[in-house]
Amino acid sequence: MKKIIITIDGYSSCGKSTLAKQLARQLDYVYIDSGAMYRAITFYFIQNQVSWSDPAAVKEALQNIHLEFEYDETNEGQASIYLNGENVEHLIRDMLVAEKVSEVAAVKEVREFAVAQQQQMGEKKGIVMDGRDIGTTVFPKAELKIFMTADTAIRVERRFKELYAKNKSITIQEVKENLELRDYIDSNREISPLRKAADAIILDNSQLSMEEQLQLALQWVEDAMMVQ
Ligand code: DC
Repeated sequence: MKKIIITIDGYSSCGKSTLAKQLARQLDYVYIDSGAMYRAITFYFIQNQVSWSDPAAVKEALQNIHLEFEYDETNEGQASIYLNGENVEHLIRDMLVAEKVSEVAAVKEVREFAVAQQQQMGEKKGIVMDGRDIGTTVFPKAELKIFMTADTAIRVERRFKELYAKNKSITIQEVKENLELRDYIDSNREISPLRKAADAIILDNSQLSMEEQLQLALQWVEDAMMVQ
């Protein structure tokens, strides 16, 4: 069967990765979490005290960053991200990285570095990639583009539950502020801001179960295949 590219963009904590992983599993496609790349770069910058407001320092640091996705059975049977050979899938999910990642992801050199690698990963198609600019910039010709959204209160609650499981001192207010700030920076940055592609289908999952949203998306995949 012909393989397509599926892009899933949207605000933070809308459940993009949950849907993307389910779709990849059902279709036997590769799932790529583009946000993990920006998070891993941010993690490296923090660890190595790279000043991301200095383009020369960023350029030099990027030369020392090698990112790879590799199958990891401890990660729901999906690929985990490796930074210079080290599995950083869990390290990049904490608040320290979350607080800085939108700033780092707004840096031109960082975006060029990540987008070039993302485009390479899609060369063979059969890929589901989620992020903020996948349908607009990375794969503007993707066969199926989904733009996910959900009520802010629901997103905050979902994210809080996820983070609280790992860190009991986290508060709802902290999570809400971080989410709103990231959405603001991601939507208002100069390069590739978070935007719905004109041909993307909106998926508001505030009132949908995971199974319902998966079935909807699978129907769209079938429709997209018919157009091919
Ligand atoms: O999806 P996420 O929350 O893990 O993404 C982390 C950050 O990376 C998010 O605040 C915005 C940025 N990002 C981006 O700018 N472009 C993408 N394609 C994916 C993520």
